[in-house]
Amino acid sequence: MSDQIVTLENATRSFPVFEGKRIYALRGIDLEVRRNEFLTLLGPSGCGKTTLLQAVSGFIDLEQGRILIEGKDITDVPPHRRPVNTVFQNYALFPHMSVGENTGYALEIAGVPVAERRKRVAEALEMVGLKDMENRRPRQLSGGQQQRVALARAIIARPKLLLLDEPLSALDKNLREAMRIELKTLQSELGISFVFVTHDQEEALTMSDRVAVLDAGQIQQIGTPRTVYDAPATTFVATFVGASNLFEGRREGERVVTPDGIAIHSKSPAANDAAVTALIRPEQFSLTAANDEPSLEMEVDQVVFVGSAFELLGRAAGGRKLTALIPASARGQVGAIEASRRARLYYDPASVHLIVPTEAAQ
Ligand SMILES: Nc1ncnc2c1ncn2[C@@H]1O[C@H](COP(=O)(O)OP(=O)(O)O)[C@@H](O)[C@H]1O
Ligand SMILES: [Mg+2]
Repeated sequence: MSDQIVTLENATRSFPVFEGKRIYALRGIDLEVRRNEFLTLLGPSGCGKTTLLQAVSGFIDLEQGRILIEGKDITDVPPHRRPVNTVFQNYALFPHMSVGENTGYALEIAGVPVAERRKRVAEALEMVGLKDMENRRPRQLSGGQQQRVALARAIIARPKLLLLDEPLSALDKNLREAMRIELKTLQSELGISFVFVTHDQEEALTMSDRVAVLDAGQIQQIGTPRTVYDAPATTFVATFVGASNLFEGRREGERVVTPDGIAIHSKSPAANDAAVTALIRPEQFSLTAANDEPSLEMEVDQVVFVGSAFELLGRAAGGRKLTALIPASARGQVGAIEASRRARLYYDPASVHLIVPTEAAQ
């Protein structure tokens, strides 16, 4: 059995926009979805996430490239014959049908006998935490419960692959956060692969086994949430996934020197004199030095209390913007900074990642 459930090879698709011009929603995407993994497609609005899902489900055709499921070319197989199901953002349930009828609809259409159907509806509803709600109507449920019915409906036919297109974006913040954990749990219980689409980086980091970051129809990077966050391949990934301080410059020995004269120490590999960008996440800065760590002087414009931390917003010598995130436990030191409007920010050179431009990323 192959390790991949889905393989996309050079998947390419454009749409006409105006005056014969076309916009490329997918530009030669190569992607493998592994068996039993939670893969998230993360990217800004318009980067091609929905188009990619629709190519996999078969609702749009590719111009070039092919799609394999378990090694078998399904590029020309119609949607209803693919072992794939989709949960949409607008999960429109049938209002006149009960929760149970909504859930079992696909089985009814497929002619599955009533007794078997009942059993599987009960199982599916139990999995999504809606046991004993079979006889309710959708309007008697909360938004979160309706979303769960949509999930039950999608998993009841036991697809090998579930595609989820921003399914949480219609829910309020608390519910969205609770559903993240539930979705991840559901995926591992079901033992099927999920391809989940979102533009919310926090959602992507918390739920996924791997994250594919998309921009303008191309995959910028694919990796575990930690890899994508700690070692972004491009400046796009660094800024889209999390907050960042970026220092574009040239490698000189153990340092990266920027045109405005800032030197950032880094132990990451990069050829001498290469054009690189050093990344320091706001939380990598500290107000106290561990040993003889290097530091930056910051002129502080604003101190923002965010509950568990203080955000320091300000500028380095030369005017470049800096952001630091300091744990709330350092409130004494932060008090002094609020008074003096100056901070010394220490960092560990071993944790400074260097983004090295490659041909593929340009
Ligand atoms: N049916 C269509 N006709 C014309 N342009 C489209 C169509 N579908 C998608 N696009 C364009 O393709 C690009 C990618 O769209 P989409 O896949 O929906 O992005 P996302 O889901 O990441 O927001 C966008 O620029 C969008 O406007
Ligand atoms: Mg979309």
